[in-house]
Amino acid sequence: MPNESFKKLYVDELKDLYSAENQLVKALPKMAKAATSEELREGFEEHLEQTKGQVQRLETIFQSLNESPKGKKCMGMEGLVKEGSEVMEEDLEHAVLDAALIGAAQRVEHYEIAAYWTVCEFAKVLGETKHASLLEKTLEEEKQTDEKLTELAKEINAQANEPGSPREEDEGKAGRRTPKRAA
Ligand SMILES: [Fe+2]
Repeated sequence: MPNESFKKLYVDELKDLYSAENQLVKALPKMAKAATSEELREGFEEHLEQTKGQVQRLETIFQSLNESPKGKKCMGMEGLVKEGSEVMEEDLEHAVLDAALIGAAQRVEHYEIAAYWTVCEFAKVLGETKHASLLEKTLEEEKQTDEKLTELAKEINAQANEPGSPREEDEGKAGRRTPKRAA
């Protein structure tokens, strides 16, 4: 028999993640819209779809536990999302904005990697092997997303360091901004 208070900790951490992922489902479309690099925008859109699948995995786990996934708000993710939206409000040059968005997104990924690693280990100790394999799938996706962001950052940070990259202001607010990758 598992220790009930440890089991409760496991469920609480899962609820925290459920809240975190749902906050991200709302934040990712905004980040995609703000991104000026086509690749970065596509990356955010792809991760949005992945994140919806991660929410479903958590729902599957909650169903098997006979517990509601609701009832907690992940304050960590709330703070990270807030920092991300602050970045979007600043009047930054395109590549600088993208570099800042990548920084915000990688903070999110690292937070999630830590959280999923924790619950995955908890699941193993609790003998919840099916949960552990679901959580491991998500953990792998978060790691891959982090690596993709690292790759994108190489090019974008170099662009951000070039003098005089355009700002949103210079091109007007109408329509989609054109990616400046071919420059
Ligand atoms: Fe996630």
